[in-house]
Amino acid sequence: MKSSLPCSKKKSSNHQTDYHTHCHLKNAWQRLCCLLVLSLPGINFAAHSHFSNQLIIPIYKQTEEPILPLPAVSRRNPAKIALGQKLFFDVRLSANQKLSCASCHDLDSNGADYRIRSRGYNNTLLAVNTPSIFNAALNPWQFWDGRAHSLEDQINQVVEDPREMANSWPVIIRRLQGNPAYLREFRKLYASGISAGNIRNALILFESTLLTPDSRFDRWLKGNKQALNAQEKKGYQLFKSYGCAACHQGVNIGGNLFQKVGIFTNYFLHRGNIQLADYGRFNVTGRKRDKFVFRVPSLRNVAVTAPYFHDGSVKTLYQAVTLNARYQLGRTIPDNDIQSIITFLKTLTGKYRGRQLTQALAP
Ligand code: HEC
Ligand code: HEC
Repeated sequence: MKSSLPCSKKKSSNHQTDYHTHCHLKNAWQRLCCLLVLSLPGINFAAHSHFSNQLIIPIYKQTEEPILPLPAVSRRNPAKIALGQKLFFDVRLSANQKLSCASCHDLDSNGADYRIRSRGYNNTLLAVNTPSIFNAALNPWQFWDGRAHSLEDQINQVVEDPREMANSWPVIIRRLQGNPAYLREFRKLYASGISAGNIRNALILFESTLLTPDSRFDRWLKGNKQALNAQEKKGYQLFKSYGCAACHQGVNIGGNLFQKVGIFTNYFLHRGNIQLADYGRFNVTGRKRDKFVFRVPSLRNVAVTAPYFHDGSVKTLYQAVTLNARYQLGRTIPDNDIQSIITFLKTLTGKYRGRQLTQALAP
């Protein structure tokens, strides 16, 4: 399927929304759309997720809105999901048996941690802020620079990265084989018993259940018009009309596009002290035009996932919105509008196992 970007269509149809009309009105918006179209040739947006038979079409084809509600959590293979959950909390996955996935991805709060940048193996300071693991299974690429194409790829990288778990599959397999409960469970659920592929499979099935449905915004999208108040609805209209939704859209309100950070003004020049990780996608492709390009982050649960940006340098939503307006859209947004957009962003907080996500707090 070809990508159908919001502003690449000139002709209006009956399904045209305000959002599309704005495409033709706003100068900055038009420049942005050109950038988006130019930077995305041939990308197939109909990405298959890693679980069930879910087909994810992040660009809004079947709806008038640029954002789609989260799908329901699939609970097929409950025994494998439970095994994956156990592995997620197991420190045997890290070389020194001190870190589990949950050390940096706290499922009781926001799926990440409270730090600007997490501490990895032997307390190593990691290069980028830890993104929430909630809803990550729906992203076509993993990591800020999109260097993992699948959750499988992502798990291999985190397990073997000397700064993170610094481990190897043979060591993990040996450790799990020494544990009678794991031996029994793997034998029961997988014909080939304990193997790297089966460990990853169980983890991925578990990760695929880490969705946060039932945010107020999703309820509104699904037709409950009372789910949002007037200011929140206005915030959403502004989010579309200013052009935020050109980048933050689809089922994860981001996650499915690569964009330069600092399209209109050089963000890194202003921030200073450029690090290797700031080169973003360039570190993956080596292409000059990928310098400072990042995967657009998902805005699901954004009200509880501070600090923001790949470098964790942004403390508040207010700053994040102001910076995005300036660097990504080339405009200054009046304070009233910023406040409305923030009230809208706060409606994006969903639930995990029936409980609203919360900000991770320092112990
Ligand atoms: C020491 C902290 C730490 C540990 C332990 C850790 N992660 Fe992460 N995780 C991170 C950081 C930091 C990133 C972002 C790295 C990047 O973008 O380069 C990340 C990214 C991810 C992503 C991609 C999310 C996205 O939206 O791009 C997934 C999925 C993930 N981790 C799952 C796991 C799993 C599964 C484990 C256990 C096998 C794990 N993590 C262990 C810190 C950690
Ligand atoms: C051209 C694409 C683009 C546009 C337009 C855009 N953003 Fe972003 N946004 C990004 C990228 C890329 C980042 C990641 C920045 C970084 O990591 O350094 C980001 C980050 C954010 C974050 C922080 C998320 C996090 O988890 O770190 C928020 C909040 C945000 N944007 C909101 C908005 C709002 C509100 C608007 C409209 C006023 C907007 N964005 C417009 C691309 C865009």
